Amino acid sequence: MPAFMEPFRIKAVEPIPFPSVAGREAALTEAGYNIFRVPARLITIDLLTDSGTSAMSAAQWSALLSGDESYAGARSFERFERVVRDLTGYPEVIPVHQGRAAERIVLHELLGEGDVSVSNTHFDSTRASVEAAGAEAVDLPVEYDDTAPFGGGIDIERLGRLLAGDARVRCVVLTVTNNANGGQPVSIGNARAVRHMCDEHDVPFLLDASRFAENAYLVISRSPDMTDRTPREIAGEIWLS
Ligand SMILES: Cc1ncc(COP(=O)(O)O)c(C=O)c1O
Repeated sequence: MPAFMEPFRIKAVEPIPFPSVAGREAALTEAGYNIFRVPARLITIDLLTDSGTSAMSAAQWSALLSGDESYAGARSFERFERVVRDLTGYPEVIPVHQGRAAERIVLHELLGEGDVSVSNTHFDSTRASVEAAGAEAVDLPVEYDDTAPFGGGIDIERLGRLLAGDARVRCVVLTVTNNANGGQPVSIGNARAVRHMCDEHDVPFLLDASRFAENAYLVISRSPDMTDRTPREIAGEIWLS
């Protein structure tokens, strides 16, 4: 495959709006310069998020038709559950409609007033859930170095100091990849070290695995000793770390 092109053809087109400069300025003023409050119908190119911005493959679209939407006991759910269990090794699978719903459920269970959540970087909706629970969100990303292959991890030394101190740390959230910090990948070594420290201090280790597949791909492409590994194997290691 030539390196300069993507190996697919895009089959669907969707019209996009082209509001005038005056219209865009009015929308921004009306939203109080909070980009979350600008209606999507006024956005030409959405740089707020990567969610929902890519096209689905022909195989994904056709799977929608053969999917089983039964009210109870759906075959599609059984398949989903099997794949998640197999990938993560976790027995319990609770589906949610979006990541922010999962964050809301878990973080409101774990956190209260005066508690602390630590992360490589809390994604914006994660931070919102932490703060809505009355807790403090502390980001401890590794120091930026544009030559390092894995710029997405947690600063292990600072995490150690925080866990050993007086702060009421109630969870550590490892965001894989580190979306709010340049989408940098997290190494398996960093994930293992974080998991180990959480176990030592009896603090729940939470994985925000929104981009576990991309992380697995980047681990392989940036680790000379892993070229014979598959993304599927590496994806499994993030959970069993
Ligand atoms: C790292 C990360 N965590 C959580 C979320 C929230 O997920 P959702 O948009 O499905 O609510 C996102 C969304 O992009 C994300 O990138």
